[in-house]
Amino acid sequence: MTAGEIRQQFIDFFKDKNHKFVPSSSVVPLEDPTLLFTNAGMNQFKDIFLEKGTRSYKRAVNSQKCIRVSGKHNDVEEVGHDTYHHTFFEMLGNWSFGDYYKKEAIEWAWELFTKVWKLPKEKLYATVYTTDDEAADLWASQTDINSDHILRFGDKDNFWEMGNTGPCGPCSEIHIDLGEEYCDKKDTKHICQVNGECGRFIELWNLVFIQYNRDDSGKLHPLPKKHVDTGAGFERIVAVLQNKHSNYATDVFMPLIDKIAEITKTDYKKAVDKSPYHVIADHVRMLTFSIADGGMPSNEGRGYVMRRILRRAARYGRKLNISKPFIYKIVPVLVKNMGDFYPEIADRQTHIQSVIKAEEEHFNRTLDRGLEIFDKIKEELRAKKKKIIPGEEVFKLYDTYGFPVDLTGILAEENGLSLDAAGFEKEMEAQKNRARSASKFDARQINQTDWIIFEDTADSEFVGYEKLSIETEITRYHMDNDTLHIVLKQTPFYAESGGQVGDKGTLSGEGFELQVLDTRKENEHIIHICKSPGQFNPETTKVLAEVLQSGRMDTAKNHTATHLLHAALRKVLGEHVQQAGSLVEAERLRFDFTHFNKIMPDQLQEIETIVNQKIQLNTTIQIAREKLTDAKKKGRYGLIR
Ligand code: SER
Repeated sequence: MTAGEIRQQFIDFFKDKNHKFVPSSSVVPLEDPTLLFTNAGMNQFKDIFLEKGTRSYKRAVNSQKCIRVSGKHNDVEEVGHDTYHHTFFEMLGNWSFGDYYKKEAIEWAWELFTKVWKLPKEKLYATVYTTDDEAADLWASQTDINSDHILRFGDKDNFWEMGNTGPCGPCSEIHIDLGEEYCDKKDTKHICQVNGECGRFIELWNLVFIQYNRDDSGKLHPLPKKHVDTGAGFERIVAVLQNKHSNYATDVFMPLIDKIAEITKTDYKKAVDKSPYHVIADHVRMLTFSIADGGMPSNEGRGYVMRRILRRAARYGRKLNISKPFIYKIVPVLVKNMGDFYPEIADRQTHIQSVIKAEEEHFNRTLDRGLEIFDKIKEELRAKKKKIIPGEEVFKLYDTYGFPVDLTGILAEENGLSLDAAGFEKEMEAQKNRARSASKFDARQINQTDWIIFEDTADSEFVGYEKLSIETEITRYHMDNDTLHIVLKQTPFYAESGGQVGDKGTLSGEGFELQVLDTRKENEHIIHICKSPGQFNPETTKVLAEVLQSGRMDTAKNHTATHLLHAALRKVLGEHVQQAGSLVEAERLRFDFTHFNKIMPDQLQEIETIVNQKIQLNTTIQIAREKLTDAKKKGRYGLIR
């Protein structure tokens, strides 16, 4: 049976039991800030468990693209060292949303494994949560599992949680005993057993009985309804059903491995150390799927994880004597293998290959430059007869030359040196502090008790889209040497945000006229920053607030131009272009964005032409206020920041 057929059989089995097939959600959860990557099939259903969302069905089946390289579920260190952990894998799952519970979940899992796929019963084990008598009894009464094979474990193995917070509950796992020869532990004290962490007993399927939500303080709250969330490791099941000793020996991975051997002109079968092939085959899947779903290698967050995975694969390539870009050449084989079920990788193949190739080239440049600097550091240490690379040097390599710390660590090890990790952390901390203080603005330093308060309003109302001049009242102020901070009840002044600079203008009242040099926001207060307030001594709190028109109009035009530019960039360079920051002033604008390559002169010309044409159309601007969630639904996300 091929991997594709196995996946389909799982889906059909549950469709026959009235489950709706739900396609995999994106492996890059752009909507969920608590997750870098989708790490389980249940992520897309989290809202149902928490009663924040509903679906038209109560039972679902799917095959979910998952990545486990960060946070609570992180398998990256295992990859390449064992035969059954992956950075990217597919999780087969069936779901009950307040419908069936433990009995059916257990019965059906057993039926599929032993009746449909005919796995030998005597090799299967079921684990249950230490206090879950109900699940233990169901295994005994509803299946013909050997009663000695029902085992109990504690929180670590039989209580499943998605992250530090969120839906969770006790679980029941099915493990298989593959036989003594699969044990990969050399340690004489090691005992082969379920959850014994060797290659002999392998977890195949996890049945989670979701019944709690864990809050920020770690407390468990019972959910109004009980749900079933199951997850079976697709690649492991394929290995078992295809009678292979390793996931890498199945038709999921072999075509990739053959391609790697072909590109590197090496012989996989004869290789004593097969880990480079395994790591590269694993990592190219992670990269392909994450890029297809909108991820991009970068220096932070999930982009940084992707960059590190790519660099790890490239380093393993060097073990097969290939240093020029090659990972991108494996992508078409993966697309051929999986593009039918996951059309997004076929649709975006060219983009995926360009991103990977550009990133491989980038890494090579970084490596060459970093190696030169590293050699210098090494010579200096040798001259001084020292063996520890100082924290500042590690930091300089990282900060100035983009050389990842783990890479410096590997090079150090290869050269009999070590790193001053604590010193490096100190430098990192100092840099963060520098960044923090650079972003602080004067108004933030005002102590709450130092304000003179006329009226303690919760926020300032911004009316500047409709009017540039209004009569209003001062609600609080603070005087500090030559700077006066004023908060108004209503204001037409736009406070610096989204890259657009704050408005300038005047505030005039009885006996004074103040120049507003800048407008900024602190919490909900819009603060007008005025200089030389010598004459300020308000008899009444009434003021006329007037924005300097020319400045505001020019700034607004430049702000609109950033949106035109963003759209043109996406059209010419690709949908992956994301805004990474911007500066909008009356005289100029700057727009930062993510792209993986240099922009060619003809592309630049095209971008400029599109923006200019749009400006010349002189289209009327429409202003609408929408909830962020609604705007996102209409595809306006990314244009609003
Ligand atoms: N959520 C569980 C897991 O990831 C079962 O799907 O193992």
